[in-house]
Amino acid sequence: MNYYDLRSDTVTKPTPEMRKAIAETEVGDDVYREDPTTTKLEALAAELTGKEAALLLTSGSMGNLVALYINGGRGNEALLSSNSHIIHHEVGSVSAIAGVLPIAIEAPRGILSADLLQGKVKRGMYDMATTTLVSVENTIGGYCYPIENLAGIQRFAKKNNLAVHMDGARIFNAHIATGISVKEYAAHADTITFCLSKGLGAPIGSIICGTKEFIDRALTVRKMLGGGMRQTGIIAAGGLYALNHHVKRLKDDHLHARAIAEALVDAGWADVDLEGVQTNIIFFTVPGIPGSAVLSQLKKIGILANTEGDTVRLVTNLGIDDEDTVEICARLKSFEPEAAE
Ligand SMILES: Cc1ncc(COP(=O)(O)O)c(C=O)c1O
Repeated sequence: MNYYDLRSDTVTKPTPEMRKAIAETEVGDDVYREDPTTTKLEALAAELTGKEAALLLTSGSMGNLVALYINGGRGNEALLSSNSHIIHHEVGSVSAIAGVLPIAIEAPRGILSADLLQGKVKRGMYDMATTTLVSVENTIGGYCYPIENLAGIQRFAKKNNLAVHMDGARIFNAHIATGISVKEYAAHADTITFCLSKGLGAPIGSIICGTKEFIDRALTVRKMLGGGMRQTGIIAAGGLYALNHHVKRLKDDHLHARAIAEALVDAGWADVDLEGVQTNIIFFTVPGIPGSAVLSQLKKIGILANTEGDTVRLVTNLGIDDEDTVEICARLKSFEPEAAE
């Protein structure tokens, strides 16, 4: 049986054209800042986000860590939504390495607002940590941040002297779904990270963007974390290819996700968060059946998924085309989940 891998958009493999671009690219030693392809990628990233400078990093986790390390600061507090990737899936690096205390805020769909931040800022108390940063994740669970929330958070942050970081691992998905430019999203944050290796389909790498002064510091922190790499053109070429060829096609992933979500609704056995499917991520539960059981039963029909507790997650990606989507929908519609013993 053929398997459709919907566990994440990180499972994609470089296309033959991307591999060719990687094979043919010019390289140099990036720790000496002499890799021409990396320089080109960083310049493009800065231009796309409207920031002064950008830096290639190993991963999105490293990008978030660098931002919180520099703009959070040891012994200080950062405000994040309680379901943020930084809190749940980055091995506690925000505390263990950056020394920042994350304050988890409950927010509908993880979307923060100035109102939700009200009363959360601490400063000038001898026995309390100082709040220095707000971090927003866009998209979060595939859901796009309303621009007015970002504007409100930015105004609140300015008034309270907080830095704003945007974990924009999937910011290009938000851009394609809403038509809001990446630059406009990024204008609401001091720093933004985005991933080359998710929907964009590159094999490795993330980028952090900010002021020139911030990126100069990020260069040092990246080296301290062991993230100074040498002939990074091999990585950057995949990223450049992705930014030049794979952004518009994200709309296909979104259409596929919508079709799969609607097929799940039609199938009748799943409780689907249809309203939440704005980009490439679908969440659903199967009443009465634990997520782990749903996962193993879906595997038997050739669909690989992920779970967070009893919530099952499907993520469309570059490896899934129109024909695959039709087949996935057909398999889901004829599937009958069995209650776990
Ligand atoms: C929202 C978000 N932020 C950050 C990351 C971290 O990226 P990486 O896996 O490259 O460390 C991920 C990865 O899935 C993510 O989904």
